[in-house]
Amino acid sequence: MNVVNNHSDSYNLRPLTTSDFDNVITLWRSTDGMSQLESPEELQRFLDRNPDCSILAEEDGVLLGAILCGHDGRRGYMYHAAVSVYARGRGVGRAMVEHCVARLKQLQIQRLTLFTLNDNCPAKEFWKHLGFRQRNDISLFALDLKEFD
Ligand SMILES: CC(C)(COP(=O)(O)OP(=O)(O)OC[C@H]1O[C@@H](n2cnc3c(N)ncnc32)[C@H](O)[C@@H]1OP(=O)(O)O)[C@@H](O)C(=O)NCCC(=O)NCCS
Repeated sequence: MNVVNNHSDSYNLRPLTTSDFDNVITLWRSTDGMSQLESPEELQRFLDRNPDCSILAEEDGVLLGAILCGHDGRRGYMYHAAVSVYARGRGVGRAMVEHCVARLKQLQIQRLTLFTLNDNCPAKEFWKHLGFRQRNDISLFALDLKEFD
């Protein structure tokens, strides 16, 4: 196992890999606040483009949390930050975010952006607590390409 971080707590962090897809998708599906989950094929494409950026936390082989993280060469992004309800409040979320920040800095990415649903107030407080600022100066626009011919 490629452990990238050890803690005083008994969980480990390591990069998310293909063999973790079933477990992380199950975690994300069971977590409030997750939207637009990828298929395994989309996840694989994301990981191939962003090696060693996405992270998971586990303890005795049990998945505690995961974050999908990557960049487009200019900006970094995090998606689906989730910690199992049974493992919350132990610093797992912070540790995973710190890994993503460190990895993106290593890759000379200068800003990390994430999206959260407007009504996910606990998540917004979490991000603010970790030093993220809420952007009120931009509006997000999207085009669903599947429906655009
Ligand atoms: C948000 C989430 C990832 C936090 O994970 P966690 O492992 O419980 O968080 P941590 O224990 O690492 O907390 C880190 C710090 O944030 C603080 N914190 C955690 N949740 C918080 C909240 N809702 N509001 C304010 N502060 C919060 C903790 O007190 C801790 O502070 P400290 O490090 O200064 O002592 C987890 O609650 C979760 O999975 N939520 C549901 C999914 C979700 O909404 N994800 C975000 C989608 S964008």
